[in-house]
Amino acid sequence: MESLKGRDLLSLADLSADEIQELLHLAAQLKAGEVNLRCNKVLGLLFYKASTRTRVSFSVAMYQLGGQVIDLNPNVTQVSRGEPLADTARVLDRYLDILAVRTFKQEDLETFAKYAQIPIINALSDRGHPCQVMADLLTIQECFGSLAGVTLAYVGDGNNMANSLLLGCAMVGMNVRIATPLEYQPDADIVEQAQAIAGERTEVMITDDPKAAVKGAQVLYTDVWASMGQEESANARIPIFQPYQVNEQLLSGADSKAIVLHCLPAHREEEITDAVMEGPRSRVWDQAENRMHAQKALLVSLLGAD
Ligand code: CP
Ligand code: NVA
Repeated sequence: MESLKGRDLLSLADLSADEIQELLHLAAQLKAGEVNLRCNKVLGLLFYKASTRTRVSFSVAMYQLGGQVIDLNPNVTQVSRGEPLADTARVLDRYLDILAVRTFKQEDLETFAKYAQIPIINALSDRGHPCQVMADLLTIQECFGSLAGVTLAYVGDGNNMANSLLLGCAMVGMNVRIATPLEYQPDADIVEQAQAIAGERTEVMITDDPKAAVKGAQVLYTDVWASMGQEESANARIPIFQPYQVNEQLLSGADSKAIVLHCLPAHREEEITDAVMEGPRSRVWDQAENRMHAQKALLVSLLGAD
């Protein structure tokens, strides 16, 4: 997709609604083997946090396009010894064609984007996880045929996933409902951004009532109650979040054809029960697979095909 070439993806708001739809279309074509694109470029992965899906799906996507991947483990590069990110960014810019960064602070991504000319991809930050939501939208589209008018209920912590789902759903004309404990709501400015995108067309609900959010929804989504970096508060969060567990009782209030999604990794019997995760409504493995197809579409669009 020509309009995306050379751009950064720090947030879903960096894309237009049409660009999201075009990326999803390309991802579906790549998955079906209807197109076979090549991109002989080099992707860097600079991840300050653990990752299974994002690291492997980005790597396999790049290899399948004919490109190469360099894993820039922060512990063995000079960033862990205090080299400024602005300097690291300017150097990596001279070697790599594209860089995916997983970081604690959205500002780090902005620093990379400012000092490097190559495309910078947000591979998860405190503020969002746009690549995950691209895969989520692809999965929902596969299940329901289209996205407009589908209602997604996210139940749990108002974290990076809640932020990106708010933006992604609003941009594609879905209704989005977020149920969290009052003190754990998504970022207020992102809620406002999603409401502005949705306008009068679609619903953006922020509530502390999980049953109200789930009522009649076609997609039930959850994520961990304590994200990476919040491990110290994990035990204290359990009783606060218990009413927000995705279990069979909560699921019974959703649409009879509802699907259940989780970005993974999951903590079974915390935010989701084993029965729901392994049950007939779960689409979590298709969702995980779709990371690779969605990111392949993203890589080839940001870099351009050979
Ligand atoms: N969902 C997701 O981003 O998984 P990883 O942390 O394993 O990359
Ligand atoms: N909210 C989780 C998502 C992991 C993919 C975290 O940031 O740890």
